Amino acid sequence: MEKILVLDFGGQYNQLIARRVRDHRVFAEILPYTAPLSVIKENGYRGIIFTGGPNSVFDPASPHYDPAILDIGVPILGICYGCQLTAFMAGGRVETAEQSEYGKIDLHVTDAASPLFADIPTDSVVWMSHTDRVTVPPAGFAVTATTDACPVAAMEDATRRLYAVQFHPEVTHSVYGNKLLENFLYRVCGCSGDWEMDSFIEDTVARLREQIGDKQVILGLSGGVDSSVAAGLLSRAVGKQLTCVFVDQGLMRKDEGDFVEKTFTSLFDMRFVRVNCQEHFLSCLKGVVDPEQKRHIIGTEFYKVFWEEIRRRSSEKGFFAQGTIYPDCIESGKGDADKIKTHHNKVKMPDDVEFLGIIEPLCDLFKDEVRRVGEKLGIPHELVWRQPFPGPGLGVRIIGEITAEKVEILQNADWVLRDEMAKNGYEQHLAQFFCVLPGVSTVGVMGDHRTYDHLVAIRAVTTDDFMTADWAKIPYDILARVSNRITNEVKHVNRVVYDITTKPPATVEWE
Ligand code: XMP
Repeated sequence: MEKILVLDFGGQYNQLIARRVRDHRVFAEILPYTAPLSVIKENGYRGIIFTGGPNSVFDPASPHYDPAILDIGVPILGICYGCQLTAFMAGGRVETAEQSEYGKIDLHVTDAASPLFADIPTDSVVWMSHTDRVTVPPAGFAVTATTDACPVAAMEDATRRLYAVQFHPEVTHSVYGNKLLENFLYRVCGCSGDWEMDSFIEDTVARLREQIGDKQVILGLSGGVDSSVAAGLLSRAVGKQLTCVFVDQGLMRKDEGDFVEKTFTSLFDMRFVRVNCQEHFLSCLKGVVDPEQKRHIIGTEFYKVFWEEIRRRSSEKGFFAQGTIYPDCIESGKGDADKIKTHHNKVKMPDDVEFLGIIEPLCDLFKDEVRRVGEKLGIPHELVWRQPFPGPGLGVRIIGEITAEKVEILQNADWVLRDEMAKNGYEQHLAQFFCVLPGVSTVGVMGDHRTYDHLVAIRAVTTDDFMTADWAKIPYDILARVSNRITNEVKHVNRVVYDITTKPPATVEWE
């Protein structure tokens, strides 16, 4: 298998570079700059990418590397700090500019014959973020691109196949950045693109088997994409040595708990434990109306139940697995072994539960890559393409006290909305959509009778990152059908409204 090494000098984009390389169907491995040259030589890389980094090459304490790496015969692409480091190692001049160059900058290619710039226009926009810059390229290097502030925005020593760019081709603001990386991989390194998600699955499964041996593994399954895909991989690796614990607090969408159970018990080889505790949660939530308190109770009880179940089952010490994906990892590179995914639920692993180690098979992948793995593993489309769903579930979509009756009304109304959206295909235009039960009753009329029943609100948003969101302009005829069906099919609902608020000032969830 063709492999590219991403040599990490501490830049924030190291994982993104690896991911872009994988997008071009070439496997990328990340190693810290402390990796010995002998190891790099042994690993048979087709090419090496030096990442950016926050440091200055003049600082002796900043990450450097043995200059002999430039002569091992493997093509190198230096990016940003990696570009300055290449110049520094090869004897060029690097200087600190008076003004930093930051943001979208016009790049001018001065050597159209460079393989790196093949099929890239002479003038294009790139993303820059630097203060130091190369002012004189090392002997043997020719300048291949410039910007107004940067006399050496790109340089190369074609004989030694050494390339360096001051800008960041890995970020999408560099309009032809992806093409440049493709050129490096295919034209410079001679890769053929022999890597696919199948290879990731095979390699990961083999690694997991070796790591786990004959020990047991426990995974908390939430029914979300990440833990489902992690479960799929682990099941393929170790089958019944894997126990998935699925705590159903009764606040999932209609039939969702059953769907998760059916999926994992029928499609995958594993021990599946479903802990049904709707009544316990409802009793803990009785009379509670404060949204923060509700969240706190649901989060705390969830983990209490989860760890109790694990304590009951852990007769021998095994591994603990979780579906942490790259954006969840606080540390760069590999996930930190003792870090539990707490960013949503803020609950730590209890001191009295010990494991042989933490397994995070997805910690190098981005969300869309996780979805691709999920599809390859045969996890159903609904699970793989699931919308974000808050940890506290419908608990944040029922305003005021949560009761069994309200949960049922909301589940039924939400199911109608999802069914209608799936039927007409409009769901693909939406980032997230769901029903909310504000806990408000209003007057209505049914036949000759006056009713006094629940109001249901529909929330549907478009967004790229959920930090801001716009309310979705769902066509009126679709809204009309949904409203008609909800009031006809869901008992105790006599009015439907549509939330037309952006975020900010509103949030996506109502709470
Ligand atoms: P807000 O309501 O803050 O939601 O605009 C932004 C996105 O985050 C989701 N969300 C959560 N996800 N645990 C989660 O995993 C939570 O506690 C939680 N609260 C909100 C929300 O559904 C939306 O996609």
